[in-house]
Amino acid sequence: MSGCRVCGGPVHEFADFGRQPLSDAFVDPGGTGDEFLFRLAVGRCARCRMVQLTEPVPRERMFRYDYPYRSSQSARMRRHFDRTARTLLAGLPARDPFVVEIGCNDGGLMPAVDAAGVRSLGVDPSVLAAKAAADRGLRVRTEFFDAGTAAAVRAAEGPADLIYSANTISHIDDLASVFAGVDRLLAPAGRFVFEDPYLGDVLSQSAFDQVIDEHFYLFAVGPVRDAARRFGFDLVDVEPLPVHGGEMRFTVARPGRYRPTPAVGAALAREDATGLTGAPALRGLAAGAERVRAELPALLRRLRAGGRVVAGYGATAKSATVTNYCGIGPELVAFVCDSTPGKQGLLTPGSRIPVRPPEAFADPYPDYAVLFAWNHAEEIMAKERGFRAAGGRWIRYVPDVRVV
Ligand code: SAH
Ligand code: TMP
Ligand code: ZN
Repeated sequence: MSGCRVCGGPVHEFADFGRQPLSDAFVDPGGTGDEFLFRLAVGRCARCRMVQLTEPVPRERMFRYDYPYRSSQSARMRRHFDRTARTLLAGLPARDPFVVEIGCNDGGLMPAVDAAGVRSLGVDPSVLAAKAAADRGLRVRTEFFDAGTAAAVRAAEGPADLIYSANTISHIDDLASVFAGVDRLLAPAGRFVFEDPYLGDVLSQSAFDQVIDEHFYLFAVGPVRDAARRFGFDLVDVEPLPVHGGEMRFTVARPGRYRPTPAVGAALAREDATGLTGAPALRGLAAGAERVRAELPALLRRLRAGGRVVAGYGATAKSATVTNYCGIGPELVAFVCDSTPGKQGLLTPGSRIPVRPPEAFADPYPDYAVLFAWNHAEEIMAKERGFRAAGGRWIRYVPDVRVV
């Protein structure tokens, strides 16, 4: 790679997960079987410390017509968006406020914004996901958010008081284009709020499966503060979030407009004290991944040798990294259940494990189930109480391999 996407500095690789498929490119069992592969590796910029993929994939390959992920599959996330809307809408001006959501997928924050009677617009390039949002009566532009899209929105609708984005800004390799778009679109006193997996939580849990094609960046507060400044904005607030295995919500505004909250300084001090973006902490991620690669397939082989049936739960994008890095295919995990209609009936990328609807889980229950959707553990374990009651056991691998 030519250099850091944020500052042009040299990027030093610290973990390499080898040849990988696109994490949301599920395979048609009746198709040609051809898959696009790339080298999944992650590094840190020596100058601005931003942690990023070293070999990015073109955005059109990932966020295409039938990109299958659907936000609405998680009840907890629906509640998270409702709560978030209540908090963020309270800070908007009284007169005809306008909210733009980048990467709204099939709804995101917008249903709650609409329900509050606030004008909203989603921007998402994945055609079927955006159509699902439109079918719910939401207003969506089926486009990538960048400077051009932002200018068009501004011309058509006026400035945005809030630009919100969940689990999307880290998916966009060209951060400069995001901030250029925000600059065109954001009202003078507006806020740009985005939330993504936090490097601190990824490292503390050795959650190496957060490294996927779509997670172009793993954000920490220091590098995001510096990137915002470079692109002409201030980081004015941060808030840790418990969703998706630990995230950070970043609030950005035009320079000098708001005084940064004490949470920003506290988070920066904590990151410095723990050496979060330093080489030793980052090397821990590769070591954690190797541990899982040594232990998880061995456990599955033992169980299979003993005649046990093992399934998976949650055909997550993250699980592509785990199964392909660890060499786990249908001979070790017979099938994986997932509630997303666009994944069912297909095979997991690379590892080619059949994806079945959740109803298949109890028909009959397997002996063991690998919880690939570990970030939805509470919701799934509550929903699938019957599995434990029938003697089934969950296999976890974050933060380490264990049977529960
Ligand atoms: N916000 C949702 C969806 C996250 S998945 C949630 O938190 O659950 C990421 C979404 O971002 C996908 O729907 C994808 O199509 C969209 N996306 C990717 N690049 C984008 C871009 N440049 N502009 C707008 N949306 C983008
Ligand atoms: P995510 O970790 O990227 O959000 O993906 C979670 C996957 O797990 C997604 O494909 C939907 C699936 N899922 C279920 O099958 N059942 C559930 O109860 C939940 C919450 C998610
Ligand atoms: Zn840099």
